[in-house]
Amino acid sequence: MLPLRPIVRRILSRSFQTCHYSSTSIFPRTISSLLHSPLSDERANETVTVAGWVRSVRRMKNVSFAHVSDGSTIHPLQAVLTKEQSENLSMGTSVKITGEWKESVGGKGQQSKELLAEKVEVLGKADPLTYPLQKKYQTPEFLRTLLHLRQRIPANTNLLHLRSNIISTLTAFFVEHSFIQCHTPIITSSDCEGAGEVFAIVPEKFFNTPKYLTVSGQLHLEALAAAVPRVWTLSPSFRAEKSGTTRHLSEFYMLEVEAAFIDTLDPLVALIEDMVKTIVRSISTSRVGKETLSTAGEDKAVQLEERWKGLLERPWSRITYTEAISRLGLAAEQKEVQFDIPAVWGAALQAEHERFLAQTVFNGPVFVTDYPKSLKPFYMLPSVSTVPTPGEGETVACFDLLVPAVGELIGGSLREYRYDELLTEMRRHGIAVGDGGEDEGSLRWYLELRKWGSTRHGGFGLGLDRLVCYLAGVENIREATAFPRWVGRCDC
Ligand code: 4AD
Repeated sequence: MLPLRPIVRRILSRSFQTCHYSSTSIFPRTISSLLHSPLSDERANETVTVAGWVRSVRRMKNVSFAHVSDGSTIHPLQAVLTKEQSENLSMGTSVKITGEWKESVGGKGQQSKELLAEKVEVLGKADPLTYPLQKKYQTPEFLRTLLHLRQRIPANTNLLHLRSNIISTLTAFFVEHSFIQCHTPIITSSDCEGAGEVFAIVPEKFFNTPKYLTVSGQLHLEALAAAVPRVWTLSPSFRAEKSGTTRHLSEFYMLEVEAAFIDTLDPLVALIEDMVKTIVRSISTSRVGKETLSTAGEDKAVQLEERWKGLLERPWSRITYTEAISRLGLAAEQKEVQFDIPAVWGAALQAEHERFLAQTVFNGPVFVTDYPKSLKPFYMLPSVSTVPTPGEGETVACFDLLVPAVGELIGGSLREYRYDELLTEMRRHGIAVGDGGEDEGSLRWYLELRKWGSTRHGGFGLGLDRLVCYLAGVENIREATAFPRWVGRCDC
């Protein structure tokens, strides 16, 4: 064995001796910890080092001010520099600045403290002639052509924090409610929702039978819930629908929950209300919430705060699909509203219908339950609680949660747990169940879950990107995720 070089030996021995380092002390101090920590005052006159990107530079006669952001907060830190120190700085430059954290001296800045620079290191230049981000307002459409850079804009930085905050709240929520997080596969054999909007995997022959990117992890989650009764997953889902609306993506994240040993929709509906309220409570009491409001702009911030308050204060509404159709029909008849497509029993609710229900009728979230069986996938259990009105068809025990501005946020149902009934439905939908000899690629495994130890169960799926839109007041889902994909666009 070759002898270790002295430098390597020194590093190795040091890393053994210093494994008590906490990860916070080995990275540069965040600007957020300087600006927002209760210890900020205690750090006055300390020497600190920050690293980030220059947002702006103001050059005065004898002194310069640079606003530096490191993405830990939407607020930049103000550094006071000599003219020479600021020479190579412009918007977008990455820098490391060491200096004294001091009381601001009468500057115009909004911060009570600033960094009096002693050492300024330019880490990466950004030529102002070619750097595409500008200090002036740039439209969301333009920024979508710069997906690799737009996260440096405060509003987009904030959306990353908000999304992360929602996910950590969800994780804690499910731990508290004894649900375990599982991972369902991305490559699947089946189109769970039966809408035929799947992306196919190539090479086709790789797995012997055709495979697709998953549209939903539900079927696999049901298998897991047949062993561990409360499970959840947060996974990418893919849909090849050619829909360029403000609420559809080709790749999006879906939170899915499956619970065994439930007989009605009530526990699911209660869990959802509790879950979303917990998220809203966390946002509205945290810094990420404050920063969401401040990036929204004054007017929108007021509306957004009202939205959060409304979600927490008012009990959420619930109606059946049949009642919703009657209400929509009445509204059209009484000229309360004019729909492009009339709402009729048996037809899907259009976005305009969903908006009217959530925004005008209920002014908040509403669970619409028991849709016609003909509109829903093969796996849903028939409704038991509703008495069918004469002339109407069968309904299934399902719900969509509609919210103002976004429309459908969550879809869920009880699942058909009886073997014979499920087999009939699968045959009716032309789903392979492996009884034709060739088993591979069929959903026999799903049917078999009903053969041994079947239980009543149900679950739901929530579009995470739509939730971010709703809670941040973002109008287009293409802003709610860092790298959106939609029909015709998969830029970077
Ligand atoms: O209603 P969906 O299609 O339900 C399912 O896929 C079920 N298998 C879920 C389950 O029960 N485990 O989708 C659930 C949610 C929708 O309510 C919507 O919020 C979101 O996923 N969603 C989309 N989000 C963005 N872009 C799309 N193209 C979406 N399609 C659905």
